[in-house]
Amino acid sequence: MARARMMKAVRVHAFGGPGALRYEEVSRPVPGPGEVLVRVHAAGFNPPDAYARAGFANIPAAVRPVLPLPFTPGSDISGVIAELGPDVTGWAVGEAVLGLVRFPSSPGNGARGYAQYATAPVAHLARKPEGLDHVHAAGLPMAGLTAHQFLFEHIGLAPGSTVLVNGAAGGVGHFAVQLAKGAGAHVVGVASGRHEAFLRALGADGFVDYTTTAVPDAVREADHVLDTVGGPHGHRLLAAVRDGGTVSPVFSGEYHRERAGERGITFPSGQVYSDGPRLAGLAGQAAAGGLRVAVDSVFPLDRAADAHERAARGHVQGKIVLRVAEEGDPDAE
Ligand SMILES: NC(=O)c1ccc[n+]([C@@H]2O[C@H](COP(=O)([O-])OP(=O)(O)OC[C@H]3O[C@@H](n4cnc5c(N)ncnc54)[C@H](OP(=O)(O)O)[C@@H]3O)[C@@H](O)[C@H]2O)c1
Repeated sequence: MARARMMKAVRVHAFGGPGALRYEEVSRPVPGPGEVLVRVHAAGFNPPDAYARAGFANIPAAVRPVLPLPFTPGSDISGVIAELGPDVTGWAVGEAVLGLVRFPSSPGNGARGYAQYATAPVAHLARKPEGLDHVHAAGLPMAGLTAHQFLFEHIGLAPGSTVLVNGAAGGVGHFAVQLAKGAGAHVVGVASGRHEAFLRALGADGFVDYTTTAVPDAVREADHVLDTVGGPHGHRLLAAVRDGGTVSPVFSGEYHRERAGERGITFPSGQVYSDGPRLAGLAGQAAAGGLRVAVDSVFPLDRAADAHERAARGHVQGKIVLRVAEEGDPDAE
C-alpha cells in the first residue's frame, strides 16, 4: 500500500482557548468526486473558526453542533490546485483559486483550511485574479460573500437607500460599507473612533463612534441596518430605523421583534453559503481596485493560536489571515 503523503496542519484535539490549536503533521487529504486538492498559500480567519475551537460554547446546548475531534478549522482558503479529483473538468493543476469551502457543512465535514493542503468542491471555488495576492484573496471569501448575500439577496438593496452598518470596520462590515456604497446607497458606519478615517476612505458617508454616541442620537430613519454585532443590546438600533425598514442580524441578537413588528420592521437574514461564481465577481472587483480587502494582521500557520488571540482582543480592522506558504517556497508551487 502506498504510504500516505504528509503535510502540516493545525488541529484541535480538545475544545478550549487559542492554546487548543496544535500545529502537527497529518496525512494529506484526497479529493473526492467534483473536488480538487488545493495547496493552500493563505487561510482567512473568521469568527466561526474560534467558535468551533471552543466547541461552540456560545450556542445553546440544545442546538449546539457536536464536532468530532480532532479537527482542523478554517473555511477560507487561497492557493493553487495540486490535484484534480474524479470527474473534474474545466479546472487545471496549477491554477490559483480562492474559496469559502463547504460552508455551512455538517459537523466533521468542514473545509479544514488551516493546513498546507485542503480539498474543495470546485463549485465553491473562484479563479484567483493575478492582481490579488494570496493573503488578500484569503481574506475575501466568507466575509465578502456574507456582505454581498445580505445586501443583495436578503435585503435587496436599492440605490438611494440609507444603510447603517454596525461593526463596520470588521471583516463583514468593511466589505458591506464598500458594496453598499458601490450600489448607490448612502452608508453610515458604526465602529469605535479609531476606525473613522479607515471607513471614510472606504466610502462611508457618515460615521458614528458607538463608544461616545448612541446610534439613534446620530441617525434616524435609516432604511436598513446590517448588524454584524448583535447581542443583548441589538434592539437599541431600532430607534435608528424608519417604520417599514429592515434590520439584518448577521450574528444573533435581541431585537424585541414583536415591538419592531408593530412598526413594520422586518428582519431579513440568513447563513452565508459557499458560492464560487459570486466569489469570482467579488475577486474580480478586488483585483480591479473596486473592493479593498483590508488586512488587520498576518500570522504564519504555526502561530494560528496568536491569530486567535488577536481576534479575541477585538477591534479588528478588516481581516486576520494565516500565511501558509512563503513567497517563492518551492514546495508550494
Ligand atoms: N450570518 C452569517 O452567515 C455570518 C457570516 C459571517 C459572520 N457572521 C458573524 O458576524 C459577526 C461579525 O463577523 P466579522 O468577521 O465581521 O467579525 P470581526 O472581523 O471580528 O468584526 C467585528 C467588528 O465589530 C466591531 N464592534 C465590536 N463591538 C461593537 C459595537 N458594540 N458596536 C459596533 N461595532 C462593534 C469591532 O471593532 P470596534 O469595536 O473597534 O468598532 C470589529 O471591527 C461574527 O459574530 C460572525 O460569527 C455571521
